[in-house]
Amino acid sequence: RLPKPFNEANLHYAQSSPERKGLEEALKKLRSQLPVSVPSIRNGKEVASSGSDQLSQHMPAEHANVLAKYTAATKEDVSAVIEAALKAKQEWADMPFFDRAAIFLRAAELVSSKYRFEIMAATMLGQGKNAWQAEIDAAAELADFYRFNVSFAQDIYDRQPTINAPGHAGRTDWRPLEGFVYAISPFNFTAIGGNLISGPALMGNTVVWKPSPSSVYASHLVYKILLEAGLPPNVIQIVNGDAEMITQTVFDHPRFAALNFTGSSDVFRHLYHKAAEGVASKKYGDFPRMVAETSGKNFHLIHSSADVSNAVKHTMRASFEYSGQKCSACSRVYLAKSQADAFLTELKQHMSETKMGDPEDFKNFLGPVINRPAFDRVTKIIKTANEDSRLERIAGGNYDDSKGYYIEPTAYVSNTLDHHLFDQELFGPVLIIYVYEDAEFESLLAKIDAQGGGFALTGSIFANDPQAIRKAENQLRYAAGNFYTNCKTTGAVIGQQSFGGARGSGTNDKAGSADSLRRFTSPRTLKEEF
Ligand code: SER
Repeated sequence: RLPKPFNEANLHYAQSSPERKGLEEALKKLRSQLPVSVPSIRNGKEVASSGSDQLSQHMPAEHANVLAKYTAATKEDVSAVIEAALKAKQEWADMPFFDRAAIFLRAAELVSSKYRFEIMAATMLGQGKNAWQAEIDAAAELADFYRFNVSFAQDIYDRQPTINAPGHAGRTDWRPLEGFVYAISPFNFTAIGGNLISGPALMGNTVVWKPSPSSVYASHLVYKILLEAGLPPNVIQIVNGDAEMITQTVFDHPRFAALNFTGSSDVFRHLYHKAAEGVASKKYGDFPRMVAETSGKNFHLIHSSADVSNAVKHTMRASFEYSGQKCSACSRVYLAKSQADAFLTELKQHMSETKMGDPEDFKNFLGPVINRPAFDRVTKIIKTANEDSRLERIAGGNYDDSKGYYIEPTAYVSNTLDHHLFDQELFGPVLIIYVYEDAEFESLLAKIDAQGGGFALTGSIFANDPQAIRKAENQLRYAAGNFYTNCKTTGAVIGQQSFGGARGSGTNDKAGSADSLRRFTSPRTLKEEF
């Protein structure tokens, strides 16, 4: 067995620390190279960009500037990538597990040391994260996913029959899927891309990877690090460009075996529908596995017994870190009336002191939202909310897109539970709060369960009364795939809290667990009599 994995320790970037210096140098270096050119990599070799089909990844904090230029794949490119993936498969699957695992363990070391600041700088400039948000994502969580996925893969290979009767032996052959895996990753965590590709690859699959257009450069670095760590050509391949065309080409292929997706529920519904059409028309050799972690409408429930300062601190982080652009972000709060004055006073205080601006400036708690559509969507919600007589704005409400896509952390108290903002995923720095009578706590649980737009990703209760905690845990059993007590809805740590929700939030196969890797296997049961 391989040794137990460990979580990458977080660096703190204090003034004059070596890590702050290292990161500042990486940012300076990246700035001096802008725009970087992202080559396509085919058969393990860089292919120069071909001019007319160039696309750009802009920087959310200064949208006039381009971070990276890259080439859009043609339909022929996508088909060639799929065939190359199928061709690379046998040799990869036949490689001893430890040799496959060693590539990802080596990549984790490269992320943790040699490339830590480079990949963080790409995530900061490209995806608008500040240093700490980039650290927990592109450095720590990425390395964690590689190290823990190796261990989860080992757990699966170790699942073998426990009893043999005399005269025969049984075993389970944890085969990879027969076709290829398609991974689609979101912009908001560089690490999620690393997880979506490494899990299936560790189980012996080959992967076609379509990263978000807003994280092309950081995803390219993830890939380059894997190649440097020894990943053979075509085991994982990136295709960028027209999402609809790429996906259609993949879904038209008879050997499409699985989707590993993180993104919005609406997109996943569309993809599920497409796959279902292929299944109905017997297009595929297998019933493709559909694995997804999607949207949320996550809640903090503040009980009358809660430690208010702790609840405020965690709400600030869950709702406004990275401008609320985590699928786990909190965007609805249910607040006990006896705690309301203290909670709202402290929240307003924190919100007024919070610094927003350039993610490269270490004093800023939050930066911009990712792009123009996100800015337009969230500011439209704010404009409408500002005029809504049922809502009292307690902080924020302003925005400015002159340089970057900046939206102030914004919070409203609603005088009714019957408001669509308790159901709509916002994916921006906007929070809606409802103050409930303390005595209504139990009946409120059913309402919390029924609200949330059909999503069920994360939720938290803040309480010191153990009975209240147990009641919430029991009655909100299906309201969240990750349920937390006295801590925020964001920040699951690999190996400590596996992550994912059911209902409209995905297939709940739990990122950061052996269960999700199991979906990328097609086990064969063998029995031999002597
Ligand atoms: N796993 C992340 C979190 O828990 C979200 O993807 O915040």
